[in-house]
Amino acid sequence: MPGASGRVAERLSPAQVSRAAELLRTGGIGAFPTETVYGLGADLFQPAAIARVFAVKGRPHFDPLIVHLAGPHWLERVVQSVSPVAQELARRFWPGPLTLILPKREEVTELVTAGLPSVGVRVPDHPLAIELLQQLDSPLVGPSANLFGQISPTTATHVLDQLESTIDFVLDGGPCRVGVESSVVLVGDDSLTLLRPGGVPYEVLRAAVPQSRWLPREEVAGHESGSLGLLSPGTLPRHYAPRTPLDLVAAGEAVPQAQRWRAEHPDHRVGVLTLRGRIDRPGVWVETLSATGDLVEAAGRLFACLRRLDALGLDRLIAERVPTPGLGHAINDRLERAARR
Ligand code: TXA
Ligand code: MG
Repeated sequence: MPGASGRVAERLSPAQVSRAAELLRTGGIGAFPTETVYGLGADLFQPAAIARVFAVKGRPHFDPLIVHLAGPHWLERVVQSVSPVAQELARRFWPGPLTLILPKREEVTELVTAGLPSVGVRVPDHPLAIELLQQLDSPLVGPSANLFGQISPTTATHVLDQLESTIDFVLDGGPCRVGVESSVVLVGDDSLTLLRPGGVPYEVLRAAVPQSRWLPREEVAGHESGSLGLLSPGTLPRHYAPRTPLDLVAAGEAVPQAQRWRAEHPDHRVGVLTLRGRIDRPGVWVETLSATGDLVEAAGRLFACLRRLDALGLDRLIAERVPTPGLGHAINDRLERAARR
């Protein structure tokens, strides 16, 4: 549906990647697939396009954008230096769902970094994203392609549901494989900090650089120590939020809680987001993340399940925490933010 501007985003097939590159080259903005979620792309070196990304998302200017690169060989276009630890993390996890916060080059506008001297960079593990970057021959900013604070998109249709009348294109690469955003790691002078749990589990990151010291977020947040200005403005408590009020309960508790809720509020229609629970009852709608309890499958389905439940216009959603090895940490982080009011 075109908005007041009359604009309708072009839905581009993988064969039309050069059209996407052309739109970006001429200052356009559009969504592209990555292995995690769809990103809202703009050429890093076109400030007017960057400004439009903030405007279209309704994203506050204090929340910095991450930058996508075609490969580690593009690092020198955007960052000043890459410490040996950062090099090791990049070598192990790129292309992949890991964002590294590194000292930015002067050419990277502070609009992108929200005034910070650092910039978040990653190499996406998606052939279409890489092809797009190579054809454009410039890094792309890429926040998730959704309205600020809402559920991230894992299909082209999710993107169009919110942004069809405000962006220029969506490059349709099908559903995203990982389903939760990248892990964000702040590379400090002599320590590392996980700012956002994501597609690479914390224990896997730690094992990759066993000699490194990891500081908890709480210890670095607020401090201005170190060369990077240790802020993490984008990790706001309320995020990934459905419109329907959502309660987050303990692992395995979503189904019993939904039964209790229905008993107390017989006129309420309830949605249940469960890892592998079962219930068949009038007035209760269920989305199961993974029938086998597989957390990789669960992460991949998380946002789509949440969207489907939210679209039903129910009175209440009840979601349960999942176990925390592997991607469980990232899934629970998203659920906690979705539950904040
Ligand atoms: O998987 C992903 O990372 C997706 C796909 C599209 O690549 N992108 C994404 O971008 O989730 P965004 O902008 O929604 O999240 C980036 C996160 C935010 O929490 C932001 O605050 C943080 O990274 N961030 C970016 N630059 C930063 C910086 N210089 N210092 C601290 N945090 C930063
Ligand atoms: Mg986001």
